[in-house]
Amino acid sequence: MAYETGMRLSKCIKRRALVLLVSCSVCGAQSLRQAADHAGVLIGTAVRPSQLSEANYASTVAREYNMIEAEDVMKWWVLRPDEASFDFRQGDELVRFAQSHGMKVRGHCLVWGRYNPDWLTQGHFTTEQLSRLLHEHITNVMKHYSGQVFAWDVVNEALDENGNVRDSIWYNQPGIGMSSKETAYIEQVFRWAHEADAHALLFYNEAEGEGMNRKSDAVYAMVKDFRQRHVPIDGVGLQMHVPVEMDIERMAAQLQANLTRLASLGIQVHITELDVSAPLNAKGNSRSEDLMRQAEVYRSVVRACLDSLGCTAIQTWGFTDKYSWIGSHSHGARGNALPFDRAYMPKASYRAILQELSADRPSRQLHASP
Ligand code: XIL
Repeated sequence: MAYETGMRLSKCIKRRALVLLVSCSVCGAQSLRQAADHAGVLIGTAVRPSQLSEANYASTVAREYNMIEAEDVMKWWVLRPDEASFDFRQGDELVRFAQSHGMKVRGHCLVWGRYNPDWLTQGHFTTEQLSRLLHEHITNVMKHYSGQVFAWDVVNEALDENGNVRDSIWYNQPGIGMSSKETAYIEQVFRWAHEADAHALLFYNEAEGEGMNRKSDAVYAMVKDFRQRHVPIDGVGLQMHVPVEMDIERMAAQLQANLTRLASLGIQVHITELDVSAPLNAKGNSRSEDLMRQAEVYRSVVRACLDSLGCTAIQTWGFTDKYSWIGSHSHGARGNALPFDRAYMPKASYRAILQELSADRPSRQLHASP
């Protein structure tokens, strides 16, 4: 009896395996890029052009990703060494690399209260001067990269954790002339961006608004209002800098809910800066259980994105633990947040992402065109 049941079970497993083999045409995908191309989603990483001269760095980016974004080199402090000039050299290098490897480029970012050059923040400009400077910046940068950058983070992190518009040089310190008018300055810069490049997709990018909270409620309300009034906005970027310690089930359910409501506005969502930081010991290593947990966080985020047709790109903030902002940001307490280790070897997190990208999702393959 037990033998017979065992035989039946084993036949059943073999049959299942065969069905799986036949239906899963990219189970053998050799890279995230191959699997993502098949799944109809963009898979990206933030890139530092100064590292592209390192053979392992460049070959891993080229092999694994179909999209890249400038980690820093399209920010004001790099592009605008002084008021009179633009320095596009590093941004151009990144774009050339992407073009020679058939990748898309995301631009980051045109308007942010942080990482601005001193000449700007300490220049005591009037609102009229700031308005002119910002308009000129958006116009010149977007025209320079027109046809090369397919999507821009037009505005980054403009809201606080309560969903209020943050104080910033562009809003009210002294601002571009719309202080205390809430999201009016954001609306204005989206309109300027659309005038500069009508073909680029225009995104609002935000941190810590991935799940359901006051900040993500405010993002949703703002985008809904913009869409109703035909303010040109095409998408929302969810940064997703998260710790391994998070409640994975809760995070996945909340992310799913947020993706669903954002998609209902007829916009795209990109996961833009995903990394999953782990605590480090004195030698800079993490516990193996934390790295296994990290893989499950990555798996859940990729799954939530792929299960929502509106979610069209998944990007990590760097790809190798050799180069990540988490170390300096956490004063060395945390790190190892990315899918490749410091020697460019794939981690459990890499395998989890690859598995999720490779899982069969026929509805997505029919509908999604990244
Ligand atoms: C970070 C970069 O990774 C660092 O190299 C830089 O020193 C500071 O900025 N949210 C964002 C990114 O939108 O631009 C930030 O990038 C990380 C947080």
